[in-house]
Amino acid sequence: MQTTAVPEKGLLKYRPNILSTIGKTPLVDLSRFSKKRGFSVFGKLECFNPGGSIKDRTALNMLSQALESGEIKPGDTIIESSSGNMALGLAQACKFYHIKLIVVIDPKLNVHTEKLLKAYGVKLIKITHPKLHGGYLESRLQKVEELLAQNPSFHCLNQYENAANPITHYQTMNEIVHQLDQNVDYMFISTGTCGTLMGCAQYVYDNHLPTKIIAVDAIGSVIFGQKESLRLITGHGSGKPSNFLNLDLVDDAIYISDEESVQGCWNLLENEAILGGGSSGAVISAIEKYASVIADGSNCVGILCDRGERYLDTVYNKTWVKEHFADFKFPKRQNKETTNNSRKGQARKRATTLTVNSI
Ligand SMILES: Cc1ncc(COP(=O)(O)O)c(C=O)c1O
Repeated sequence: MQTTAVPEKGLLKYRPNILSTIGKTPLVDLSRFSKKRGFSVFGKLECFNPGGSIKDRTALNMLSQALESGEIKPGDTIIESSSGNMALGLAQACKFYHIKLIVVIDPKLNVHTEKLLKAYGVKLIKITHPKLHGGYLESRLQKVEELLAQNPSFHCLNQYENAANPITHYQTMNEIVHQLDQNVDYMFISTGTCGTLMGCAQYVYDNHLPTKIIAVDAIGSVIFGQKESLRLITGHGSGKPSNFLNLDLVDDAIYISDEESVQGCWNLLENEAILGGGSSGAVISAIEKYASVIADGSNCVGILCDRGERYLDTVYNKTWVKEHFADFKFPKRQNKETTNNSRKGQARKRATTLTVNSI
């Protein structure tokens, strides 16, 4: 062990504040997950953001733009609808800038997140009745509209319509492209507002990259025109069409069931020791479903949007899992060293031919 003080190469001495630690998240080779396949899979670990999810980036970008333009100033009140991560991202940024935050939530929000929001001093308003077939989004947005009408001094950043939302992920994609020395063949991106999807897709388009953009949506979400149905996994999927979606920039969409999302989470945990959220599991399952059309030698990236702690009472609670998915098979414990050393730490060279079929 080193006992004398030597400078640590590449270590930043300090960051000016907590918000400056948002972004520049690690990209990790999921080599154990991809070892049986002919292609590499990398996970963009958005759980490394200080608030625990990719929405830290979006919240900060939307708020910064509103502060810079003078639309919002310290002391003002923001009201937002969120099922969790955006609320936490905003709670952190608003606390830092001394802005009051009211969040309209619904009963699907987990207790852990609710407690976190209260700790940040957020005022919570809970909707109790869904408007349509079990979806709460429309009811939450309606409540926000009502409160804005009653309180003209309140502001709403509205992640569903704010152009700063997708623009945020130009940076996310820029990071990934540089982390893989430009060799990104496939991006697997879960969808809600489609801010992440479209920001990454726009970057790929503007920079003339050959990267295929694959959207990962929940079964029961209406984003790609499916029929709405009850969904158990929060975070991804939506009960309302996206204002940002431009199908011309998206190569394919894959639909993942709640059970497949949970299976993906458990596989990610067992193989890579990563405790990811529900949409991270969906992305992992989507890559597995898509494997047959991915050319050997490709580099695939899945954006793993949030931490698993928020899903301890659901995805990672074996009783809950068995109650909802009677035939669920928990992965067998991996005892042996399963890392494929032959290509450890090495991004594969881009495959020369890419074949993408619709699934
Ligand atoms: C865990 C998780 N995954 C995926 C998404 C979808 O991201 P976007 O709204 O950028 O489409 C969200 C959005 O809140 C999320 O919280």
